[in-house]
Amino acid sequence: MTAASPNTPIDVAELLAFYASAGADEALEDAPVNRFAEARPRPAERAPAPARETRLEARPAAVPDAGRTAEPSPPAPGLDVSSIPDAPARPMAAAVPDEAQALLARQLAASAATLDELRQHMAAFEGCNLKFTAKNLVFADGNPKADLMLVGEAPGRDEDLEGLPFVGRSGRLLDRMLAAIGLDRSSAYIANVIPWRPPGNRTPTPHETEICRPFIERQIELVNPKVLVNLGGPSAKTLLNTTDGILRLRGNWRVHTTAAGTVIPAMPTLHPAYLLRTPAHKKLAWRDFLEVKAKLRAIS
Ligand code: URA
Repeated sequence: MTAASPNTPIDVAELLAFYASAGADEALEDAPVNRFAEARPRPAERAPAPARETRLEARPAAVPDAGRTAEPSPPAPGLDVSSIPDAPARPMAAAVPDEAQALLARQLAASAATLDELRQHMAAFEGCNLKFTAKNLVFADGNPKADLMLVGEAPGRDEDLEGLPFVGRSGRLLDRMLAAIGLDRSSAYIANVIPWRPPGNRTPTPHETEICRPFIERQIELVNPKVLVNLGGPSAKTLLNTTDGILRLRGNWRVHTTAAGTVIPAMPTLHPAYLLRTPAHKKLAWRDFLEVKAKLRAIS
């Protein structure tokens, strides 16, 4: 599809609104990239894939590369890719999630003896595609010595810009929810299952979640909270070993078991972003937070 060049500010505004409504809310590169052409290298270019480290070195440092996909999706059925001109040659900047990266994430997470070390390992880790479109690692906010730890899904735009979890609209609601039970960010620790913003706030893929899982599990282990709150279904499913939906899970105590076998009571509840869209359910989250307050009282 070729769009006519926008001529007036109104054309530009309409085009941007169209892109935003389609979920494209970031400009990653100045020029479009033809991924279909990348999928069919010319015979002379066909060479065995270099080792992962080599491919990563080929990526210019500190330049977020939207063309990082080493194995692009096959063209849609029926699409004649031969009519699409080849993209200009560009280095294969690969960070395709694979088993080796999942293994590396597990090893790095396990080797972190402190939260600082864990943050450093995560900042240096290049095995998750999301890192290359995110502006910042969103590690955590709050008090790592707190009794309560809350885990959301993944950073959004505001969190990515600030490098802190839950600082946008849903974060402001979360702050009010915490205040309602007498807590704030000095008495709670907040993190996400995924520490890099998925582009356009898309749902992280199961593979991305699997790659990031060891980091959040180790983070929980190192904080060792007395109570965990899972904000939303993805956090609950990833950390509570269940496939149930959040509306079924919420309000009932579950447990998160760390790699070392420590059992932490966990309360799955509704995500603040969901509550912003569905304010009628705030009363359910309120009940869950009262449960959390009672549990914290009982065990301290
Ligand atoms: N939603 C999340 O799950 N986490 C954030 O940090 C922000 C919004």
